[in-house]
Amino acid sequence: MNRTFVMCKPDAVERGLSGRIIARIEEKGLRLVAAELRQVDRDLAERHYAELSDKPFFGELIEFITRSPVLAMVVEGPADNTWRLVRTLMGATSVDDAAPGSIRGDLATTTGENLVHGSDGPESAAAEIALWFPGLA
Ligand code: RTP
Ligand code: MG
Repeated sequence: MNRTFVMCKPDAVERGLSGRIIARIEEKGLRLVAAELRQVDRDLAERHYAELSDKPFFGELIEFITRSPVLAMVVEGPADNTWRLVRTLMGATSVDDAAPGSIRGDLATTTGENLVHGSDGPESAAAEIALWFPGLA
């Protein structure tokens, strides 16, 4: 799978940072193959983050991701590691660990609103592309 699912979360769209996030992805040498600004409903949000449904922050996460539109994207690279390249561009989940130079490290101040989502492996990339862009899968 040389494609991965990426999303500018509501905070990124609200703050006007989607363009900068796309620029970092494109500057890296990755290519957009789909992109759509979308208001996420509760059902899609809960399916997207289903693995986290037993976490204490799940309710807050669903509220956040459905707050205002996200920019949902499919990104393609030259090899099987596209998901990992995007994860490195994003930076660590915890804002305390996100390194300078990464999207989260440079642009986010809280873990709850960390601007960007990227699939965390080849299986989740395939599943998330199928969930968000069924026509592409
Ligand atoms: P994402 O799925 O959004 O790309 O983020 P991720 O893989 O880096 O992290 P994940 O474990 O999948 O968690 C999803 C989102 O939940 C929030 N979170 N809060 N308070 C906490 O300990 C905590 N842990 C995770 C973050 O907003 C994270 O991006
Ligand atoms: Mg995740």
